[in-house]
Order: sequence, then structure tokens, then C-alpha cells
Amino acid sequence: MRKIVIAGNWKMYKTQTEAKAFLVDFLPQLTAQASEFGAAAQIILCAPFTTLPTLLGLAANAPTNLSIGAQNVHWADNGAFTGEIAAPMLVELGIKYVIVGHSERRQYFGETDATVNQRLKAAQKHGMTPILCVGESKQHRAAGETETWIASQLQNGLQDVDLTNLIIAYEPIWAIGTGDTCEAKEANRVIGKIRSQLNDRDLTIQYGGSVKSDNIDEIMAQPEIDGVLVGGASLDPEGFARIVNYRSL
Ligand code: PGA
Repeated sequence: MRKIVIAGNWKMYKTQTEAKAFLVDFLPQLTAQASEFGAAAQIILCAPFTTLPTLLGLAANAPTNLSIGAQNVHWADNGAFTGEIAAPMLVELGIKYVIVGHSERRQYFGETDATVNQRLKAAQKHGMTPILCVGESKQHRAAGETETWIASQLQNGLQDVDLTNLIIAYEPIWAIGTGDTCEAKEANRVIGKIRSQLNDRDLTIQYGGSVKSDNIDEIMAQPEIDGVLVGGASLDPEGFARIVNYRSL
């Protein structure tokens, strides 16, 4: 049975004060608006490291299916890796989900399928569920290489990774932060290809890239799409509450 997972990715936005203000606004809207569908979804907010304790404290008393997640994790349990965060540090706080291999990490911080693979394994070793991001660039798409690119990201990134404790997010790079959402049917098609490559019928596969309150219902109506990973639109409590409480078409 595939789980529906709606995740926000705050990226490098929000101080502790701003994060607290978000939840104070967001939590009552969750319960007030909860639709039949939204209420069944697992909701995850992947926030900057500095905001995690504050968010975990506030979410602990929330009567919802809300989890707080991180945006990256190192592969070693500790060591001389300036600026990195280890899995035991996150687990001690109570973090259960972590994004791995986001295209911004790959593009700006030199992450490769090999480092992504190590990070995925470290997250799982410590009992967290990683959200692996894959997706093609505009150039790959124009060259007709979307499927082969993603297939190789999956093959290399997922070596010795446990598919039963994993979420995948299909995020076409050209759709991230651009307002240029991938057409829902096309996202559905690519996600269907990912599912058949991995051959695991219980795997949750999300779509990400310019998801907004005005396109969420159409995206969630696609049979292969099990949720979304939301960047910009997750920063606004009202907009994210509408996304979480998507309606069935
Ligand atoms: P976006 O970002 O929703 O702002 O396009 C998505 C993501 O980067 O995960």
C-alpha cells in the first residue's frame, strides 16, 4: 500500500523566530481545513538545521500527522567534515526524514550519485527515511535523455539501498523554482517509469517542481503520483495548508 507524503522543503529560509511563527499559523489551519484526502497524508517539513529543535518542540503537541525533517545528512557517524551534520545528531533530536541528493546539492555543492548513495545508506542505517531527489535538466529533456538520465541516477544512487524505507521525489530541474511546473500527465508518466524500473509496488514517489496551491489538486489526481515535495510554496502557512489539504478531482 503506497503512502501519500506531502513534504515541504524550506531550503535556506527561516530563522528560528520565523519558523515558530510559521507553525503557530499553520497548525490550526491543518485541523480547520482537513479534507478527507489531506488528513490521510503524512506531512513533513524539511527545515534548516538551526530550526529543528524549535519545530520538533512545537510539533510534538500537534494533533496531526506532521513530522519534521532535515535537508541533508553526512555518511559518517562523526569526523573531520567541517560544516556537515551526521545522522546520530539528527536522530538524537527526533528527526525521522531527510532529503538526500536535491538538485541544488548536486549543482552547487558537488554531490554525485556516489555521495548521494553513501548519504542514503547512512540515513537508513540510523533508522531515518531518506527522500531521494532525481530529475533531468532542461538540456537532458531537450535531447530526449530524460528517462536514461533518471535511470542512471537511480541505478547508481540506490546501490545497496533498502527500497522499503525510502521515498523518491521526481524533480525535473527546469521546474524547480521557475513557476514552470511539469505537466501533471508528463510527471505521472515519468514517475510510472521510475516505478517500473524499481519494481516495488509500495514505494512512495513524489513530484516536485513549482507545486502551488492552484495546481496541487491536478497533480494529486494522477494515479502514479503519491505526494509532492514543495519548495517556495511551503514557506507560506496558508498556501502550504491548502496544498496539504488537497482536494480530489
Ligand atoms: P519549488 O522547489 O517548489 O520552489 O519549485 C521544489 C524543490 O526544490 O524541492
